[in-house]
Amino acid sequence: MSIEVRSVTHEYNSGTALAVRALEKVSLCVNEGEIVGLMGHTGCGKSTLMQVMAGLIVPSQGTVLADGEDIFGDHYQRGKLRQRLGVVFQYPENQLFESTVYRDVAFGLKHSGLSAEEKDRNIRWALQIMGFDPDAVARLSPLGLSGGEKRRLAIAGVLAVRPAYLILDEPIAGLDPAGRERFIRLLEDLSGDGMGILIISHNADAVAQCADRLYLMKQGEIFGGGSAAEVFADEDLVRSCGVEISGPQRIRQAIAARDPGFDAAVLTHEDLMEALGQWLGGDGR
Ligand SMILES: Nc1ncnc2c1ncn2[C@@H]1O[C@H](COP(=O)(O)OP(=O)(O)OP(=O)(O)O)[C@@H](O)[C@H]1O
Ligand SMILES: [Mg+2]
Repeated sequence: MSIEVRSVTHEYNSGTALAVRALEKVSLCVNEGEIVGLMGHTGCGKSTLMQVMAGLIVPSQGTVLADGEDIFGDHYQRGKLRQRLGVVFQYPENQLFESTVYRDVAFGLKHSGLSAEEKDRNIRWALQIMGFDPDAVARLSPLGLSGGEKRRLAIAGVLAVRPAYLILDEPIAGLDPAGRERFIRLLEDLSGDGMGILIISHNADAVAQCADRLYLMKQGEIFGGGSAAEVFADEDLVRSCGVEISGPQRIRQAIAARDPGFDAAVLTHEDLMEALGQWLGGDGR
């Protein structure tokens, strides 16, 4: 099962002097159980693509298939998409509006058809995996939470629906290193349980660490789709898309510039430690 974008082109303000071509024949897919990265320069069309995938923007051309069904088809029930696909927008903390934490997380479950007990179980599960003690926070006002807590709460609200797929737009921007690590581990756990995840991010290290596959975007067009290692190996393409290579990759380059014998393929910190270990003749730690 998958979410598949098929040859989507989208123009804002089509037919007017303000027309902007935001997407150009974009095709990609996110399968259940995998983490897919999407990276690209600011303004290249990532958020537009996300809104098309969520059914919020009807594209000028092309379509999106959710588990094989055309989400823009006449007979498709949009409610189904809301249960299958969770969407975390840029700055999700701005989406909180209920009077208590519990109600905010419960909001997305209103039309889920679940019993009160099942809803409660989902709400507690979502709060817990986002690092909250459900009993301690349930009655608090979301407005009293810190910025980071608000963001975690907004994500809990999306996860409570237990969607099969999840799209996140810049979820780790502004998180401290420990928070980022925790969040990446959470995504890995969710995908391990079968969730298909699309993560939009400017953070090459984080994407390199967790993505099974990676797409790059440039002026509305999509490139790549292979493993993160394959895509990052084409450094010219990566840079031309306005994306920085990963930190460990830069360190490898700096060493290789002095010693051409240091030629291991490096993308993540783990790769770098292993390559350094071999280079130094120890285990590198
Ligand atoms: N509602 C809109 N009306 C008109 N043009 C828009 C609208 N939203 C986005 N655009 C334009 O479409 C293009 C793609 O924008 P989009 O927000 O999808 O980029 P992005 O890759 O998400 O950027 P960022 O990394 O800054 O979030 C940009 O040129 C932008 O100015
Ligand atoms: Mg965006």
